[in-house]
Amino acid sequence: MRKGKDSNPLHDAHQSGALRSITVNLNGVSRSGACEPRELLSDFIRHELGATGTHVGCEHGVCGACTVHVDGVACRSCLLLAVQADGRRIDTVEGLSIGNTLSDLQAAFQRHHALQCGFCTAGILMSCADYLQRVTNPSEEQVREMLSGHICRCTGYTPIVKAVLDVAARRRDNENAMEASHA
Ligand code: FES
Ligand code: FES
Repeated sequence: MRKGKDSNPLHDAHQSGALRSITVNLNGVSRSGACEPRELLSDFIRHELGATGTHVGCEHGVCGACTVHVDGVACRSCLLLAVQADGRRIDTVEGLSIGNTLSDLQAAFQRHHALQCGFCTAGILMSCADYLQRVTNPSEEQVREMLSGHICRCTGYTPIVKAVLDVAARRRDNENAMEASHA
């Protein structure tokens, strides 16, 4: 059937069954939306769910800007299809802070001037958040290796490394203090 000039491609796709409805838990809130079967998770998060804190750079898994957590694990959202995320938990940079209070990781980035233009920052924060859950006492070399999956054109990486090491040290100090107070 010939489409009229007022035809809406998304509406037509939905009518023809080309769009899928999926539901994800985005930062603790159940969100549903429509996506094409080939649509990238990064595009779904940004355009359908409006969570534009996740940035998109290379769109082929190199720059790390699009990193989010899928079921608690850092993933490049440009390498996943939105339909693959159906029913899963997605955490983005918008979920790191609690209200207006920055997470300890975000606060450390601020303290150490670990961002300039900020384009890479959301992805790096999400990778670091995942990494610090698993590695509590990383060396500088290990942090640099972890960051090698991210491209930052501004900072030279050193302030980011310092911020990550600072958070790890403070968390260990807090943990030790809590253990001492319960001894
Ligand atoms: S946009 Fe996904 S890795 Fe670059
Ligand atoms: S702060 Fe600009 S690319 Fe990293």
